[in-house]
Amino acid sequence: MSNNKSNMTLGVNIDHIAVLREARKINDPDPLMALAVCAQNGADQITIHLREDRRHIHDEDAKKIIQNSPIPVNLECSINQEIIDIVCKLQPHRVTLVPEKREEVTTEGGLDVIGQAEAIGYAIEQLHDSLIPVSLFIDPTDEAVMMSKELNAEMVELHTGTYANVYAMLHSSLPYTHHSIKELELPRHTLLSKLEQSFEMLQSSADKAKDIGLEVAAGHGLNYHNVKSIMDIDAITELNIGQSIIARSVFSGLADAVKEMKRLSKRS
Ligand code: PXP
Repeated sequence: MSNNKSNMTLGVNIDHIAVLREARKINDPDPLMALAVCAQNGADQITIHLREDRRHIHDEDAKKIIQNSPIPVNLECSINQEIIDIVCKLQPHRVTLVPEKREEVTTEGGLDVIGQAEAIGYAIEQLHDSLIPVSLFIDPTDEAVMMSKELNAEMVELHTGTYANVYAMLHSSLPYTHHSIKELELPRHTLLSKLEQSFEMLQSSADKAKDIGLEVAAGHGLNYHNVKSIMDIDAITELNIGQSIIARSVFSGLADAVKEMKRLSKRS
């Protein structure tokens, strides 16, 4: 193993804590408490997504998290003007621009940096005027990487969704999202070659981005199994992971939560 590998920044996405809170519309669980637990246990960065529909993180959460965080806050948002105005005032450590559709369950693909170059470029300009560095969430292609550089982004986050989907189909016969359900019928050798192809795209676009001076993050659908290969791509120096960490925390915490309630509900 080479000993000059750069360190990896782990960004933990805590949107799902707010998803759980919104299910009851109360103040529990509190994303601010999640921030503290993440920071105390090795997270290098907190990632939150201020969506146009505010389905999980609200403006007030973002404000409190940015004001109180002992670690950098990476705020994801769309290029919607109302959101960009709010985000410029919030002053997160970095903004990651993502595509957003109201009806989607989660961010489905990378930004259309070529088709929407002008609008994305304008959003970047405004964020830079507010002294906020910008990362662009893109599909892993050379064209998207080159365009991100042209648009003056400091960083790109490569969408690992295709890789994660194919990996899940090979190992559990379920994609990490259910969008590509038709691919479940693909034979194993086809899935293997798709996995290789999706990994190579990540590898080559990460290398390209690094070569032209962009920092490189990766995220979406990464979990305790598929993250290992991503670690082999030296050019990637940051991971943003949400769903799998929060999902695991339910089970690592459920035993204690039940025991404590059992203790309280015992009569002597
Ligand atoms: N990176 C970006 C840009 C995202 O939009 C998301 C999902 O909000 C993530 C990373 C985290 O994805 P996951 O929850 O699948 O780990």
